[in-house]
Amino acid sequence: MTDQPTRDRTRAYWDTRHRERDTLASGGHIGLDRPGNEIFYAQRLGTLLTLIGDLSSPAAPLFVLDAGCGKGHFARALARCGHRVDAFDASPEAVAQARAEGGGPRYDLAALADFRSPWPYDIVLCVDVLFHVLDDAEWSAALRNLVSLVRVTGRLIVTDEEGPGRTPRGDYILHRPTDAYRTELEPLGLTHTLFRPYGFRENLVGFHVFTRTR
Ligand SMILES: C[S@@+](CC[C@H](N)C(=O)[O-])C[C@H]1O[C@@H](n2cnc3c(N)ncnc32)[C@H](O)[C@@H]1O
Repeated sequence: MTDQPTRDRTRAYWDTRHRERDTLASGGHIGLDRPGNEIFYAQRLGTLLTLIGDLSSPAAPLFVLDAGCGKGHFARALARCGHRVDAFDASPEAVAQARAEGGGPRYDLAALADFRSPWPYDIVLCVDVLFHVLDDAEWSAALRNLVSLVRVTGRLIVTDEEGPGRTPRGDYILHRPTDAYRTELEPLGLTHTLFRPYGFRENLVGFHVFTRTR
């Protein structure tokens, strides 16, 4: 498991990025300008809504958890669509800014492996976070915890490349292949339903949808 100094360094990286970069560049693509990030977020939101489905009802909203929500862009958008959204991030700066923005979601400060909830979720979403978790033990603990938060027949939606191998990029990214996710999640009762690539420029990342069957 990652040692405390490494955790502190990672936390400091995200806090600084959330403090210094605008709403979209801090959680989106750091190499894109504002219009590029607007398109990047809008396209992915459209895909996400397609994956989640078009049902929302004030009487029976979908319970959605946005894990590693950054400043809450997706969390707010899903709340606007009528879903009941909880969200959390490990960066105090991100959570403070998300709370200040309001818009419906309930925010907590927590790491992926540590977040607890009194209720399970229909959809647990984790967008562009897991490939920033470089330590395999921490990544595995994070996935196991996220699974525990999905109700039976609910879905876990995570993002990464498809593979075939492990691909480190720079200091803060390690892409893992689909098989790594399957190996971790299938014994826990999840089935890999589909991979939907972002389809944004040269980006190879996409949404992996896992359905909890037991
Ligand atoms: C690229 S941003 C994505 C933010 C958001 N999901 C989005 O798409 O706008 C990555 C986020 O993951 C958070 N993060 C990184 N490691 C984490 C961990 N172990 N637990 C919770 N959040 C983490 C960072 O603080 C950062 O807000």
